[in-house]
Amino acid sequence: MKASVLSILAAAGALAANSEPPYTTSRVPISTIEPSLASISAAQATVQPLSPTSSVKGVAFDRIIQIWLENTDFNASAADPNMQWVASQGILLTNYYAVTHPSEPNYAASVAGDTFGMDNDDFLRFPANISTVVDLLDSKSISWGEYMEHIPYAGFQGFNYSNQQNYANDYVRKHNPLILFDSVSQNETRVRQIKSFVSFYDDLQAKTLPQWSFITPNMSNDAHDTNITFAGSWTKSFLEPLLTNDYFMNNTLVIVSFDENEVYTDPNRVYTVLLGGAIDKSLHGTTDATFYNHYSTISTVSQNWDLPSLGRWDCDANVLALVANKTGYKNANISLDGLFFNASYPGPVSDSKNTPGWWPAPDTLAKCTTGKGVLPAIAAQWGNSTGTYNYTNVYPYDAASDTATGGTPVTGSADAPSSGGSGSPTSTTGSAASPSKTNAAAPVAVPSGVMAILGLVGLVAGFA
Ligand SMILES: *[C@@H]1O[C@H](CO)[C@@H](O)[C@H](O)[C@H]1NC(C)=O
Ligand SMILES: *[C@@H]1O[C@H](CO)[C@@H](O)[C@H](O)[C@H]1NC(C)=O
Ligand SMILES: *[C@@H]1O[C@H](CO)[C@@H](O)[C@H](O)[C@H]1NC(C)=O
Ligand SMILES: *[C@@H]1O[C@H](CO)[C@@H](O)[C@H](O)[C@H]1NC(C)=O
Ligand SMILES: *[C@@H]1O[C@H](CO)[C@@H](O)[C@H](O)[C@H]1NC(C)=O
Ligand SMILES: *[C@@H]1O[C@H](CO)[C@@H](O)[C@H](O)[C@H]1NC(C)=O
Ligand SMILES: *[C@@H]1O[C@H](CO)[C@@H](O)[C@H](O)[C@H]1NC(C)=O
Ligand SMILES: *[C@@H]1O[C@H](CO)[C@@H](O)[C@H](O)[C@H]1NC(C)=O
Ligand SMILES: *[C@@H]1O[C@H](CO)[C@@H](O)[C@H](O)[C@H]1NC(C)=O
Ligand SMILES: *[C@@H]1O[C@H](CO)[C@@H](O)[C@H](O)[C@H]1NC(C)=O
Ligand SMILES: *[C@@H]1O[C@H](CO)[C@@H](O)[C@H](O)[C@H]1NC(C)=O
Ligand SMILES: *[C@@H]1O[C@H](CO)[C@@H](O)[C@H](O)[C@H]1NC(C)=O
Repeated sequence: MKASVLSILAAAGALAANSEPPYTTSRVPISTIEPSLASISAAQATVQPLSPTSSVKGVAFDRIIQIWLENTDFNASAADPNMQWVASQGILLTNYYAVTHPSEPNYAASVAGDTFGMDNDDFLRFPANISTVVDLLDSKSISWGEYMEHIPYAGFQGFNYSNQQNYANDYVRKHNPLILFDSVSQNETRVRQIKSFVSFYDDLQAKTLPQWSFITPNMSNDAHDTNITFAGSWTKSFLEPLLTNDYFMNNTLVIVSFDENEVYTDPNRVYTVLLGGAIDKSLHGTTDATFYNHYSTISTVSQNWDLPSLGRWDCDANVLALVANKTGYKNANISLDGLFFNASYPGPVSDSKNTPGWWPAPDTLAKCTTGKGVLPAIAAQWGNSTGTYNYTNVYPYDAASDTATGGTPVTGSADAPSSGGSGSPTSTTGSAASPSKTNAAAPVAVPSGVMAILGLVGLVAGFA
C-alpha cells in the first residue's frame, strides 16, 4: 500500500501529522525537529509536486505573483540602481508598509490576514481552524502555489534546509508563509503545492503556473544574508527574461516587495513595485502614494476575484488602485503621523506577551471590501463574532497594548461597501481613539512561570 504523502513529509520533517504541535511560542530546540538527511533524500525521491491550473477571470488581473525580499529600508532600495530598474517597469508604491517585526509574522500576515501577535521567528504551527487566502481562492477553484528557492522537495516541513556544501543559510521555513498553517501543511493535496524554483521553471515551460503564487528567493538572493546590491541584481536577473515571456506576462500582476524594513525605530515602509502585463505601459515609471500594507494584497485578491474575506485585518485593508479603480472602491486616506508598524500586539504566538491556547476570533459579521462578508466556512467555525480586535480598521491597531498607535483615519474616502459604516474609517478621530475591542475570548493573564511550564508541556507533547 502506498504510504501517505503526509507520513513521508512527517518523517522528513520530524512532525507527526496527528500530534498536537506547540502552538504556543516555546522555542523548540531545533535539534529535536531536525530531520535526518536520509529522510530528506527519501522524500525527495518520492514526493511529487502538484500544479493545478485554472483560468478564472479577474477584474484587473488573471494572475498574481508576489516576490518578497528581506529587511531593507525604503530609502536603501530607492538608491539601488537595479531596484530603480524594477520600478521603471511598473508602479512604485511609496506608502506601502510591512505590519510588524521580525520576518515570520509578516509572512504569516500576507496569507492569514493577521500576525496573531507573533514577535519572533520561532518554529510555529497555526491550528487548522486558522484560515488563509488559500481557503478564499479554493472557494472559486482559483489555482495557487508557492515557489521557495531550494526547498528540498514539495511540502518540506523542516526549520531550514541549508547549503549542503558549506551549511550557509539557504531555504528557511520562517520565509515560507503557507507552510506555517496546518490547514495547508496537514493537507496532502495542498502541501504539495509548496514547491521549489525548479518547479517554477517547469510550470513556466509547461504553462501550468497557478493564478496566485508567492516566491521566496533564498537567504542570499533575498538580501537577508547579503545586501540590496546583491538582491537588486538577483531581482533584475530573475525578472528581466520573464518580462518578455508572453505566457508569463499575460494579464499578470507581479508584486515585488520586502517583508519588513531594517531600522526598527523608523516607520516600517518597504519599497514595493507593481509590474507585469496587468500594468498599463502608460503607468510604467509612475508612483502611487496611497497607504497600503501586506493585508492589501489579500483584500486586492478578494476584490479582483470577488471573493469573501478572512474577517481579519484583510477585511477593510486598502485595495490596490489597479483593482479599486475598476470596482469603484474608495480607499481610506489616513494620516501616517506616528504610525510605525514596528511591534506586535499581544497574541497567542507572541514571545513577550503570549497567552497559550487562546486564538483571536475573526469578525464574522463585517461586510469587508467586497461586501460579501467572511468565507462561510470561517463563520461556521467561529460563530457570530464582531472579532477580538477591531478588524474593520484600515490598519492593525490595538489600543490596549499601545501598539501601532497614532495615525488618524482621515475622512472622506470611506469604503462604501463595508459594514454599515462601522468598517468605514470616515471619522476624523483623535489619534488615540481606541478601535480595540474585547469579547468573551479576551486573553487571560498567565504568570510567566506557568507559561514556561506550558511551553515545555507543548514541546514534549509535540515532539516527544
Ligand atoms: C528617506 O528619504 C526621504 C527623501 O530623501 C527623506 O525625506 C526621509 O526622511 C528618509 N527616510 C528615512 C527613514 O530615512
Ligand atoms: C539547519 O541549520 C543548522 C544550523 O545552521 C545546520 O546545522 C543544519 O545542517 C541545517 N539543516 C538542514 C537540513 O540543512
Ligand atoms: C542561493 O541560490 C543561488 C542560486 O540562485 C546560489 O548560487 C546560492 O549558492 C544560494 N545560496 C546559498 C547560501 O546556498
Ligand atoms: C485539502 O485540500 C483540498 C484542495 O485544496 C480541499 O479541497 C480539501 O477540502 C482540503 N481538505 C481539508 C480537510 O481541508
Ligand atoms: C553590498 O555588499 C557589496 C559586497 O560586500 C558591496 O560592494 C556593496 O557596496 C554593498 N552595497 C551596499 C548598498 O552597501
Ligand atoms: C492569455 O490568456 C487568455 C485567456 O485569459 C488566452 O486566451 C490567451 O491565449 C493567453 N495568451 C497567451 C500569450 O498566453
Ligand atoms: C518603534 O518606533 C518607535 C519610534 O522610533 C520607537 O520608539 C520604538 O521603540 C520602536 N519599537 C520597536 C519595538 O522597535
Ligand atoms: C487609478 O485612478 C487614479 C485617479 O484617476 C489614477 O491617477 C491612477 O493612475 C489609476 N491607477 C491605476 C493603477 O490604474
Ligand atoms: C489625503 O489627505 C491629505 C490630507 O488631508 C491630502 O493632502 C491628500 O491629498 C489626500 N490624498 C488622497 C489620495 O486623497
Ligand atoms: C481553534 O483551534 C484551537 C487549537 O486547536 C482551539 O484551542 C480553539 O478552541 C479553536 N477555536 C475554534 C473557534 O474553533
Ligand atoms: C448568527 O446570527 C444570525 C442572525 O444574525 C442567526 O440567524 C444565527 O443563528 C446566528 N448564529 C449563531 C451560531 O449564533
Ligand atoms: C473600528 O475602527 C473603525 C475605523 O477606524 C472605527 O470607525 C470604529 O469605530 C472602530 N470600532 C470600534 C468598536 O472601536
